[in-house]
Amino acid sequence: MSQTSCNNAGLLRAYIKEQGEETFRNNPWALTAAIEDFASTGKHLMIFKEPKLKVAREALESLPTKPKLIIEFGTYVGNSAIAWGAILQDIHGSNAAEKGCRVYTFELDPTMVRLSKDLVQLAGLDDIVHVLEGPASESLRKLYYEGKVTASGVDMAFIDHWEKYYLPDLQLCEELGVFHKGSLIIADNTDFPGAPEYLEYVRSGGLGAVRYESEGHKSETKRGPSVVEISTVVEV
Ligand SMILES: C[S@@+](CC[C@H](N)C(=O)[O-])C[C@H]1O[C@@H](n2cnc3c(N)ncnc32)[C@H](O)[C@@H]1O
Repeated sequence: MSQTSCNNAGLLRAYIKEQGEETFRNNPWALTAAIEDFASTGKHLMIFKEPKLKVAREALESLPTKPKLIIEFGTYVGNSAIAWGAILQDIHGSNAAEKGCRVYTFELDPTMVRLSKDLVQLAGLDDIVHVLEGPASESLRKLYYEGKVTASGVDMAFIDHWEKYYLPDLQLCEELGVFHKGSLIIADNTDFPGAPEYLEYVRSGGLGAVRYESEGHKSETKRGPSVVEISTVVEV
């Protein structure tokens, strides 16, 4: 991770404190809005922002069965993980956690793990959103062997870590059999910095038993156009 991304993440925590933490307590959408505000003041954060989030939200809300289990590759400051938790609460109500809704998000960097856990707790989502430290592939295997992520159990995987891991980690999901027909795989930045092997794989429908239909969704961001790839499992 670049020094700027790391420094700005640290500055973000101070910014949230300055704004008055009580504004954000148990208010995840206010918190994600503040994180976006901070990022729009010239302090770049590598977060999944509106309007991309809107596209992902619509895809999640249009699933025929209400989503309950989301896995996320790449937590950083926890912005998207908080958004997924809030979307699950919007869909299932404030007792989403008791209904079994979970977001498992994977992060390599221990400083980001501490920061994101802190923000998840402030948002009041720590019963839904769980941040796991270490390589995403190891965390996913661990969750699988613990029975927290089960075969056919994942409704959406959000892929937003380093692009070289996109395809191997998708293939790990396939190997563990965590997808069901209709599962969504949403991948950010497939155009830039770019994940060409991943894109070729999902656009060609996959190679193994899991088959995909896949489409790029272009959004206009402050840094120019950017593509989110949304793939749907059509056969498993
Ligand atoms: C683009 S940021 C994630 C942004 C976050 N999804 C959001 O929108 O708020 C990518 C993050 O992935 C983490 N990362 C990169 N490779 C990883 C891996 N193999 N396992 C776990 N985390 C990884 C990086 O440390 C970084 O914090």
